[in-house]
Amino acid sequence: MLVLKPLRKVHKFCSNLFDRLPGCTKELLMRTCYQQQQNRHFGQPVHETHPHLMGMDEVTPGITRAEYQQRRLRLATMVQEAKTQQSIKHSIVLIPSATKVIMTNDIPYTFRQNTDFLYMSGFQEPDSMLVILISDCDFQAVLFVPKHDADRELWDGPRSGDIKALHLTGVSESYNSDELEKFLYNYCKNHKEYAVWYNTNKPIKSQHNAHSIVDEFLKQNNKTKFVQNPLPLIEQMRLIKSTAEIKLMTQTTQMASKAFIEVMRASKPNVNESFLYAKMDYECRIRGAEFLAYPPVVAGGDRANVIHYTRNNCLINDGELVLMDAGCEYHGYTSDITRTWPVSGKFTKAQRLLYECVLEVQEALLGLCTPQYSLADLYKHMFDLLTPRLLLMNVIPSEVSKDEHMLTKLLRELCPHDVGHYLGMDVHDTASISKRIKLQPGMVVTIEPGLYVKSSNTVVPAQFRGIGIRIEDNVLITDGGPVVLTRDCPKHPDHIETLMASS
Ligand code: GLY
Ligand code: MN
Ligand code: MN
Repeated sequence: MLVLKPLRKVHKFCSNLFDRLPGCTKELLMRTCYQQQQNRHFGQPVHETHPHLMGMDEVTPGITRAEYQQRRLRLATMVQEAKTQQSIKHSIVLIPSATKVIMTNDIPYTFRQNTDFLYMSGFQEPDSMLVILISDCDFQAVLFVPKHDADRELWDGPRSGDIKALHLTGVSESYNSDELEKFLYNYCKNHKEYAVWYNTNKPIKSQHNAHSIVDEFLKQNNKTKFVQNPLPLIEQMRLIKSTAEIKLMTQTTQMASKAFIEVMRASKPNVNESFLYAKMDYECRIRGAEFLAYPPVVAGGDRANVIHYTRNNCLINDGELVLMDAGCEYHGYTSDITRTWPVSGKFTKAQRLLYECVLEVQEALLGLCTPQYSLADLYKHMFDLLTPRLLLMNVIPSEVSKDEHMLTKLLRELCPHDVGHYLGMDVHDTASISKRIKLQPGMVVTIEPGLYVKSSNTVVPAQFRGIGIRIEDNVLITDGGPVVLTRDCPKHPDHIETLMASS
């Protein structure tokens, strides 16, 4: 059994600002004032500064310190249990944060924390590192964080610093990031043999100084025979959502669903795609979302047939459908919804035929979101459900259906993407997890069949050309059956037409 070591109030690497103070009274005074000012702030929302967002014991909104500690304990246990480790007593797990990415001279992009680091620590600052030290029967979590820097904090806002980071996150110890190198050097010196768990394949793309320090640690260290990637272990944990995470997933999917309703209401002939994009962004943010979860697709008419259309800058003509694929990020948890609706409020006959076909398939697939099936099984079911319907409607002409090669080619053109994916802190969440494993309670997945008939597709009858449709919901798998988290987002054609008529 692994145990969590108690918090140590003082640690040997602690770099107290006052250690380095010269004996100048004026400077001492200034420093003290600065320190007092800093004491009121953390580098991220906390209960004291954001009581409207956070409970007393929460590190990030909705997730308690105890849950983060439990996650680290679980990871440590998994590392210890990993077979290849059996002969090795000590392991060190290194999980870097993201760093600031510069957009243009001196101007950073909006910061988004490395998901695995956030999942394990709840710490929201860049240029940090979580180190988990595991030995026979105990483990310690050590956090390296940006140190206080009056100049930088003047521009970027307060940093938590090592002491407040320690109390905020509940790790065993914390130090300034510039002490990582020395820490790793000492670890290497004091341990004869150990395994390193670090993602060397796909470190977070960045200038984060910690990567070169860890690379150097790995290179210099010929005792390190075992370097393994912790990502699959962390993603196994992230795949199954806790009760607190399910609440956050419910909130993010509900707020995006409500935002969609407002965007539908605001649609009218000749509206610019950019207007609907801005409306979605606004409606999500006013409900509490930090930002949209990904660049949305807002595509009128034939542009819906470009799966990753994100230019979102054309006018949508009267009579055209609009396909919007958008979701938000709420306290680290994402929603991912697609709806397709007539911009003028009324489906044409051909649009409704295709739409109802996709909807029937989508609803049948939602019913299969149970532990009997995997996402890979559902992908196969999607084609089994779609094909006879497309034949019946003559979307696939009978001469094509007789030639297996032509049929497969046309089906791939009409539906080129997967049926869905896991959803959570990332949109395409836990990508290292196979889609062949059966669905399990606590997973959240998307179900998103589509039908895309390009205007240039001359095989399909003319009335269907230029129509692209996708319907995407977010589903929680439970013992009691699928729970469609996005059920409040209208998708039945009559419901959509009624909603738009009343706007
Ligand atoms: N929005 C990306 C996707 O649906 O997978
Ligand atoms: Mn999706
Ligand atoms: Mn989507």
